[in-house]
Amino acid sequence: MTELTTLDGAVVLVTGANGGLGREFVHQALDRGAAKVYATARTPQSWTDARIVPLALDVTDATSVAEAAGVAIDVTVLVNNAGAFNGSSVTGDLVAAKALFDTNFWGQLEVTNAFTPILAANGGGAVVNVLSVLSWLAIGDAYSATKAALWSATNTQRLALAGQGTHVLGLHLGYTDTPMTKDVEAEKNDPADVVRAAYDGLLTGELEVLADDVSRRVKAGLAAPLRALYPQLG
Ligand SMILES: NC(=O)c1ccc[n+]([C@@H]2O[C@H](COP(=O)([O-])OP(=O)(O)OC[C@H]3O[C@@H](n4cnc5c(N)ncnc54)[C@H](OP(=O)(O)O)[C@@H]3O)[C@@H](O)[C@H]2O)c1
Repeated sequence: MTELTTLDGAVVLVTGANGGLGREFVHQALDRGAAKVYATARTPQSWTDARIVPLALDVTDATSVAEAAGVAIDVTVLVNNAGAFNGSSVTGDLVAAKALFDTNFWGQLEVTNAFTPILAANGGGAVVNVLSVLSWLAIGDAYSATKAALWSATNTQRLALAGQGTHVLGLHLGYTDTPMTKDVEAEKNDPADVVRAAYDGLLTGELEVLADDVSRRVKAGLAAPLRALYPQLG
């Protein structure tokens, strides 16, 4: 596998680029020398930097995914950042939970599958999947389930894409100060720190980046008895 050690000259595609972490992924890729960044979104915005190419991409819409992949044929790094939280539950009616899976799980897989041949043709490159500490902690209910599923799929993608030289990185983080957490009263990461940790890890060959203490603590706690992770069980 050709090791990705720099973003110099890279062509990066970021999903959900208008969001709090998305904007950081766009700007920090350029700071690190990327030649071009496709800033994709359901409603693309205009950007002032000519190296940023706005592109329509709704991860839940197969036609939109295919059209984006038809345009962005020079991508070398794919950042699957788009995601949502809708307060849905895996208990009771599942309509909203299924919709959340469409965005946070199936959407990410559709995008990666559409860009897999492009990454192969461009030398392998990399995929970054934005997961969560809640991949390992079920207190987020359906949201946790979507991120747990994507964590598992990320591990499978890493194995499956190794043969074509594509590096797959999973990024885990706790509360981070973005529009998604605007109603959360808690200490939050600065999105700039999270994205810096992600790109640092990517370029030093890490397979997984745990961006904060809570992610490190919860992952370490997975081997402990479940009551330690879930004190509410008594
Ligand atoms: N903030 C946190 O505390 C936190 C913690 C752990 C993980 N994460 C993850 O980090 C990622 C980025 O979230 P964020 O915190 O930056 O939140 P954000 O500011 O709300 O950004 C999320 C972005 O995803 C986009 N999106 C939603 N559905 C989409 C779809 N169907 N197709 C394309 N784009 C879509 C949104 O686009 P619109 O502008 O069109 O709505 C928005 O720009 C998500 O995967 C989230 O789950 C966040």
